[in-house]
Amino acid sequence: MPEAQSTTSALRKRGARNRTLTLSDGDRLRLENRVLSPRDVRRGQKDLVVHGECAALAARMKPGSVDLLVLDPPYNLSKRFGSSSFSASSPEVYAAWFETTLRELLPLLHARSSVYVFCDWRNSGDVHGVLRRHLKVQSRITFEREKGRGSRKRWKNTSEDIWFATASEDYPFYVDQVMIRRQVLAPYTKDGLARGWIETQSGPLRDTYPGNLWNDITIPFWSMPENTEHPTQKPEKLMARIILASSRPGDLVLDPFAGSGTTGVVARKLGRHFVLGEKEREYCLLAARRLELAEQDSRIQGYEDGVFWERNSGRVRARFKSTQ
Ligand SMILES: C[S@@+](CC[C@H](N)C(=O)[O-])C[C@H]1O[C@@H](n2cnc3c(N)ncnc32)[C@H](O)[C@@H]1O
Repeated sequence: MPEAQSTTSALRKRGARNRTLTLSDGDRLRLENRVLSPRDVRRGQKDLVVHGECAALAARMKPGSVDLLVLDPPYNLSKRFGSSSFSASSPEVYAAWFETTLRELLPLLHARSSVYVFCDWRNSGDVHGVLRRHLKVQSRITFEREKGRGSRKRWKNTSEDIWFATASEDYPFYVDQVMIRRQVLAPYTKDGLARGWIETQSGPLRDTYPGNLWNDITIPFWSMPENTEHPTQKPEKLMARIILASSRPGDLVLDPFAGSGTTGVVARKLGRHFVLGEKEREYCLLAARRLELAEQDSRIQGYEDGVFWERNSGRVRARFKSTQ
């Protein structure tokens, strides 16, 4: 990410409807002491943003304390993250790096912990191979990302994977917390009675179980208030689905590759504790700013009244609310 612009210069250059969150010098000064270094972390401390390497943070945390581990590490691509960059390597070298990282984090889990790992199609198989050796793999989720560079040589990539694994076969999964509210196009009735749908003025709606193909996710872009300049920021709606399905209020969620802090922001909005680690100081400050804003506004775009709505369902949603 280029050096974040001050709010004034950013506003001068960008359109009026651009809601991308940037840091002012005042924000940086104010938030400085909300970012800890790993050596300041006391065992059992929660709700932290830690500036440092994943390994250094893992070494300071209490073993067995993490209920949900979210891993969104750099994929095996050459990419700049602020002042540093990640270099693509062979699949074997990437898998070895990921395995070393995972081993450092495993002692923090307990028997009922869950783990989610983000990856793309190129490294998904390698990530799966590593996870199978250490955890119980439960699902592979694929989410659609509409943004994508067109290619004349191969199919444009418009998806990413998330592996869901657990420490044992005895794990929580709160599926009733992550139902998806859809319009019923072909209402099913039995003996003239509606089956599993709610009759509303916007037509029949139905709460359905979420599958492992997520096509209702919008990657943050400039007109969304959650958008930042982090190059690989994940959507709050996506993180909410993970956190709601695999943790309860009061649980501890760890994300040691936190970037702009999406995991911690959503954890806070949903009443979970969190520990965020990130090696780029500017991103730590951005995460701290987002956490500050989350205290004032706990809305999550696309998740309302305890259900997830399909993408572009604004009109149906509004009509549904007006009739409640
Ligand atoms: C894919 S991004 C995470 C994006 C994040 N999920 C979000 O929503 O903003 C990966 C992040 O890991 C950070 N990173 C890379 N290597 C790291 C390491 N060894 N320890 C901690 N952070 C690291 C990068 O600076 C980058 O911000």
